[in-house]
Amino acid sequence: MSAISLQIPFDVAKLREDFPVLKQTIHGKPLVYLDNAATAQKPQSVIDAIVKFYAVDCANIHRGVHELSQRSTKTYELTRAKVKKFLNALHQHEIIFVRGTTEGINLVTQTWGRKNVKAGDEIVIAGLEHHSNIVPWQMLCEETGAHLRVIPIDDRGDLILDEYAKLLNPRTRMVAIGHVSNALGTINPVRKIVEMAHGAGALTLVDGAQAVPHMKVDVQALDADFYAFSGHKLFGPTGIGVLYGKTDLLNAMPPYQGGGDMIRTVTFEKTTYNDLPYKFEAGTPDIAGGIGLGAAVDYVNHVGIDKIAAYEHELLLYGTEAVSRIPGLRIVGTAREKAAVISFVMEGIHPHDIGTVLDRMGIAVRTGHHCAQPVMDRYRIPATTRASFAFYNTTAEIDSLVAGLDKVKEIFS
Ligand code: ALA
Repeated sequence: MSAISLQIPFDVAKLREDFPVLKQTIHGKPLVYLDNAATAQKPQSVIDAIVKFYAVDCANIHRGVHELSQRSTKTYELTRAKVKKFLNALHQHEIIFVRGTTEGINLVTQTWGRKNVKAGDEIVIAGLEHHSNIVPWQMLCEETGAHLRVIPIDDRGDLILDEYAKLLNPRTRMVAIGHVSNALGTINPVRKIVEMAHGAGALTLVDGAQAVPHMKVDVQALDADFYAFSGHKLFGPTGIGVLYGKTDLLNAMPPYQGGGDMIRTVTFEKTTYNDLPYKFEAGTPDIAGGIGLGAAVDYVNHVGIDKIAAYEHELLLYGTEAVSRIPGLRIVGTAREKAAVISFVMEGIHPHDIGTVLDRMGIAVRTGHHCAQPVMDRYRIPATTRASFAFYNTTAEIDSLVAGLDKVKEIFS
């Protein structure tokens, strides 16, 4: 098998040193972590930032004149500035901290949606969405009497854009679309999708959970009205994520949750609300998570998102070729533009059995429906086995995966 040779320098062995979790053995074998679409591992700098907050700077933010509160507020807010730059948002106040992509989408359905969506309106999503970009819209439709419309996907896992064009009409209020499919790896043509939605007078929300860790995302270039992602998939902590929204839209939306920090004045008669972004951030937030996310953004900037994208693409090509040689294995999701995700089925062998055998060999993959049951229905399968890569994975690890799958075949044939 050919080794990856990039034109640009990318020292994977050195970068792996930054991730303590990768140094262990599982069932006596070196850990091969190929479940990055579920969550990515954390570099030492992220772990250190969280430890420093709790060990040295711990205080609540936006509430104290004392030194510790000043320090923690400053570091937390610095993350907002870093994320603004990372996504190329126009303003820092357009970066709203939430628990993750799921909460970001729910925030939009519960505030913008409840205010603007009426009976007979239409919401468009795609046939490859994660449940988190289906269910909140379904809930909104049930509450308002609006209708959910779904862009079909073809056998490769690409959206059928001609069908999308037919779905757009003056009743379309929102097009909510995943940037990258977690189950298939399809990279959707988001810029085009947004342009078409805007042409029909609809707004757009992009679920960027699987895109932000793997490619440059520029929200202004995409012109998305809302864009959500999760910190833990970007090598940051769990419990923190971001909803980006355009200023005018966020200003016009009612608050999400009521409580401390989101108010300007409170009397028993009336409450007035704080400015952006705080209007949407009620209560003590995940301060450590926010600080850890800032360290994660620094880390990704240090590695270079374009280098990450280029390297992972090579991994995808290598991995696709390698697993395709296994008799009886079929890759599910062969879109023209793909992120480094390989979902597959093996004739006569249940994905959970595959996952269990691989685990005994120290190889972590995800098996199941990947929180995307309609995708499984589309291909008439109950589940797949999914290997999802990050920039710290290697061709040698892919070789281990192939050896593991050979073993699976040996056991089950
Ligand atoms: N959405 C995550 C995944 O794809 C959890 O595994």
